[in-house]
Amino acid sequence: METHKQLTIGLFGFGVVGEGLYKILQQKPSFNATIKKVCIKNPGKRREAPEDLFTTDRNAILNDPSINVVVEVINESGPAYEIVSTALKNGKSVVSASKKMIAEHLPELLELQQRTGESFLYESAACASIPVIRNLEEYYDNDLLHSIKAIVNGSTNFILTKMFEEKLGFREALHLAQQLGFAESDPSLDVEGYDAANKWTFLLTHAYGIIEKTANLVFSGIQFVQGRDADVAREKHYDIKLVAQAKKLDNGKVAAFVLPQFIKQDDHLAFVKNEYNGVVIESGFADKQFFYGKGAGSFPTASAVLSDLSALRYQYRYEYKKLYHHTPHELTDDFYVRAYLSFDAWKYIPRDRFEWIEEWHADSDRKYLVGVIHFREIKEGSWWKENNTSLVLLPEPILEETQVQQQKRKSLELAELA
Ligand code: HSE
Repeated sequence: METHKQLTIGLFGFGVVGEGLYKILQQKPSFNATIKKVCIKNPGKRREAPEDLFTTDRNAILNDPSINVVVEVINESGPAYEIVSTALKNGKSVVSASKKMIAEHLPELLELQQRTGESFLYESAACASIPVIRNLEEYYDNDLLHSIKAIVNGSTNFILTKMFEEKLGFREALHLAQQLGFAESDPSLDVEGYDAANKWTFLLTHAYGIIEKTANLVFSGIQFVQGRDADVAREKHYDIKLVAQAKKLDNGKVAAFVLPQFIKQDDHLAFVKNEYNGVVIESGFADKQFFYGKGAGSFPTASAVLSDLSALRYQYRYEYKKLYHHTPHELTDDFYVRAYLSFDAWKYIPRDRFEWIEEWHADSDRKYLVGVIHFREIKEGSWWKENNTSLVLLPEPILEETQVQQQKRKSLELAELA
């Protein structure tokens, strides 16, 4: 295999991340990597770089044999996939930040990597500056990785921080996230949880060897969270965060979802504010580990691209160890969650489908309950996303069948004693 001593880069995209990378490489000539061409969509825009660097012809990069690395940091996932797959087929290494594209095309991208033997790295696509993919890939043995819970979307975390700690309105907070370059160009991808769920699909691949489409994951964003929920959180000494979670159950299968969650104030994730991301990993013998860093923004994201470029110098490739060298795990819906729901009227809530309800308040316009429900009721129903209902999971939300049965037995015994 070729040794990439000198990296000659063809860059696709000169937005928040692309320009960040360009500036970093300008500041670090010792890095010994040159951007030979930048392919952009709109040639009319003013850019702070020499005009002859830019082209609108993607083949000027893809067919240039002197370019040995393609960095793809564009917005649209369709063209991103065409660029990445052509570059790999043309014998180039590829670094990408396109989480939506990776989530949509991972099976094809796996096949292409195997077929071409080229490196395809995307550390910047999840949690920006936190090296979470390489850690999950290299460090954690399959059997020892018990659970991961993470904040993987900077914009929603930024909005929640600004709304509930600094009392900004939702629109104002979102606008600020857009101005600072954290939000997607279509911000509903952030707000409605698509971005977090997209990232979660391939983090599940590196953690557990699971390949799943975003649409098959249970997820929502912060679009249903209301001021009243934040009041309840405060009364209970919780914060609300959008949390991606995965946990290996007793039967070896994995429970996974991305949902708003109450977080205890002494939880590591409570420390994660604004555009920061955080990942708490629980593994056998090590107990908990916490990774923390900026999850969005120009330089933090470009720093991860830079790290991938560095890794290309020694021909680093993801081996997808959990997928190819271990028995991959399977996702399961067979577990229960402790959930808080706030709603306008009881008729919108399938109360009879709860295993038990441990708390409810019905004395105001906005009502709420806390109870335990089978996850399938959430996966298969849409009631929790309709009629102005808001669902927030409790801390340690996952319960297994044995725990639920045990709890039920205990309640019966107590009832008999009473
Ligand atoms: N919109 C994304 C976020 C950018 O807010 O996390 C980084 O992936």
